[in-house]
Amino acid sequence: QNIEMELAEFKRGGYDHFMLKEIYEQPESIVNTMRGRVNFENQSVKLGGLSNYLTTIRRSRRIVMIACGTSYHSCLAARDLFEELTDIPISVEVASYFIDRKPPLFRDDTCIFVSQSGETADTLVALKYCLERGAMCVGVVNVVGSSLSRLTMCGVHINAGPEIGVASTKAFTSQYVALVMMALLFSEDRMSKLQRRKEIIDGLGTLSEKLSEVLELNDVIEETAEAMKDKTKMLVLGSGYQYATALEGALKIKEISYILAEGILMGELKHGPLALVEKDLPIVMIATKDKLYDLVASSVSQVTSRLGEPVFITSKNGPRLIEPTKASTDGKVAARAESDYVKFEVPETVDCLQTILNILVLQMLGYWLAVKKGYDPDFPRNLAKAVTTR
Ligand code: G6P
Repeated sequence: QNIEMELAEFKRGGYDHFMLKEIYEQPESIVNTMRGRVNFENQSVKLGGLSNYLTTIRRSRRIVMIACGTSYHSCLAARDLFEELTDIPISVEVASYFIDRKPPLFRDDTCIFVSQSGETADTLVALKYCLERGAMCVGVVNVVGSSLSRLTMCGVHINAGPEIGVASTKAFTSQYVALVMMALLFSEDRMSKLQRRKEIIDGLGTLSEKLSEVLELNDVIEETAEAMKDKTKMLVLGSGYQYATALEGALKIKEISYILAEGILMGELKHGPLALVEKDLPIVMIATKDKLYDLVASSVSQVTSRLGEPVFITSKNGPRLIEPTKASTDGKVAARAESDYVKFEVPETVDCLQTILNILVLQMLGYWLAVKKGYDPDFPRNLAKAVTTR
């Protein structure tokens, strides 16, 4: 028994849980995803597994991304960039819903299947459906030799290393980096995107050190989790690139801390979820600097004026979210300034890469909420790492 415990401890590399170890591995795992693929000097991307298929993919009339759970969220996060860089229509599908519908699919479609394990039954059934219709099927997989990597026509291994914790962390960030590399590669022939592509490649080059900076927030996040652990519900709001971050962050929180956390698009707040906002409801607001800042600022005021309790994820030295004069009051409760709220400040990067830094905060928050509530974050109840049945 003692030897077994020591072995487990050894595998966790001194961390209390695999999940924490995997969170801390991310500055390195994203570099492993890019190794030998992104050339930062001549600003180009090479994905060996796709080389022979690029012409077909670039000519496809549609790209369909298909996945489950966290892997689905990495697809959602990447959609904006695929649309922007490739100009090919993109749809993103939850594998099980895709199979339920059996939608029209054609030989000139490219289907991208994203899976950490490469064994998720729903995703494999969707793959079979697409193969039967003659579509180009591409895999983005972590586990080498898995069913998905064998059955797809070509693909990319994300090289994140083994992920043990049921709640996916480093696989998400590596999947996203892999998809960003794909979007860069697919758009290589588009001169109009040259500048933007350079900006993104430079951003990829400094991402690892910025991730390490975000990890320094660990202690503050632990304290916040201690203060929040008795909450039974919470909202996570994001817009644009940060919509997927909000959904993935809420999933992390609910799957390991069992707090009912819902990820919501900021633009949808007024169409229903606003009814949930009441005094002291914790609302994580992903408010890092980007072109949708005005929408973020208006959501903040909608939330604070109803006395919800925002927890901000913002850019270091970012713009003000609450104007001092506009701080709201209902006459009974004193208006609060921005500095009165919890705020996690993260470094700034290119808008489309910000997700990778922001999600780290939510992974850590989920982790600490679970630990503070006395749950084992590595093995949440009722869940399995790979769901191999439908
Ligand atoms: C399970 C896991 C999730 C994972 C999902 C998809 O539900 O608990 O963490 O995101 O499957 O898994 P895959 O291996 O296909 O990425």
